[in-house]
Amino acid sequence: MSRPTILIQLDGDEHASVFDAVVATDAGVDRLLQYSRVEATQVRDLVHGAMFTRGPADLKSTAIFIGGANVAKGEELLRQVVRCFFGPMRVSVMMDANGANTTAAAAVIAAGRHVDLAASTATVLAATGPVGQRVVRLLAGRGAQVRVASRDRSRAALVCELIAKEIPGARLTPHSTDGATATAEALQSSQVVIAAGAAGIGLASAADLARAADLRVAIDLNAVPPLGLEGIEVTDRAVERNGRIDYGAIGVGGTKMKIHKAALRRLFESNDQVLDAEAIYAIGAAIDGR
Ligand SMILES: NC(=O)c1ccc[n+]([C@@H]2O[C@H](COP(=O)([O-])OP(=O)(O)OC[C@H]3O[C@@H](n4cnc5c(N)ncnc54)[C@H](OP(=O)(O)O)[C@@H]3O)[C@@H](O)[C@H]2O)c1
Repeated sequence: MSRPTILIQLDGDEHASVFDAVVATDAGVDRLLQYSRVEATQVRDLVHGAMFTRGPADLKSTAIFIGGANVAKGEELLRQVVRCFFGPMRVSVMMDANGANTTAAAAVIAAGRHVDLAASTATVLAATGPVGQRVVRLLAGRGAQVRVASRDRSRAALVCELIAKEIPGARLTPHSTDGATATAEALQSSQVVIAAGAAGIGLASAADLARAADLRVAIDLNAVPPLGLEGIEVTDRAVERNGRIDYGAIGVGGTKMKIHKAALRRLFESNDQVLDAEAIYAIGAAIDGR
């Protein structure tokens, strides 16, 4: 008889995320154990509690989810969790602090429905945040030529450098969006634009987008007005407009939620999975039929 599934939610915030708890429940987790204000130094004892209670054959029924608003902290918690494992003594773990992995995966999957990414140039606006960097990495991993855009070209160049080390052969160019025509220039000859700017920050005007005649897909991940891409509606889901296919943040959100739940269910299939950006993308791509 299989054991009840237990998800251990490790969260660096004051209160463990209610959003993540609701999704875990909807994904069918039997029991959720929530830990908030988790520091890296506390991870070992928490993970040992997960590793040493059930026998090896039952460890797949225990898993860890790392959330919280701070993605850098989530990444550090993930490193600490994985360090605790040895041999068969491990449990599966998923990292989705601030929804960064599931959101980036959903955006790249949405783009890939409409263009051949390997044959496309994609511009990622405000690419230096946690979501933007993941979008760049996933696009580069699918063979796209990626323009990495930031208000500050040196920050864009740093992102290119970091990702080039992880993805040999990545085709990345840094772009500055500082200046009246800079955003339009970054969009020229691109087939895809993904706007990953902070909530409530406009990044490209309708005129910038209209000038980008080659654009086939435009995706905006900012749900808070003013939106990142002017003229796109937050609920757009593959809406045809001006010769493009448009997605707004809520339009992408449906796919994000499906990926989140599917990844949680995947955790309980074996005890050896580490679900970070690429693995979460792969789960999303499979459920999207690509
Ligand atoms: N649907 C979902 O479930 C979901 C989940 C997670 C995130 N999101 C959304 O995805 C977007 C990206 O998230 P994130 O956490 O990566 O964002 P973030 O770190 O807050 O910001 C991303 C980038 O936006 C640019 N930016 C910040 N403040 C700015 C300003 N005042 N003016 C112009 N640009 C500014 C910066 O890029 P530069 O400095 O390089 O220009 C920054 O690196 C957000 O809109 C977020 O709300 C949605």
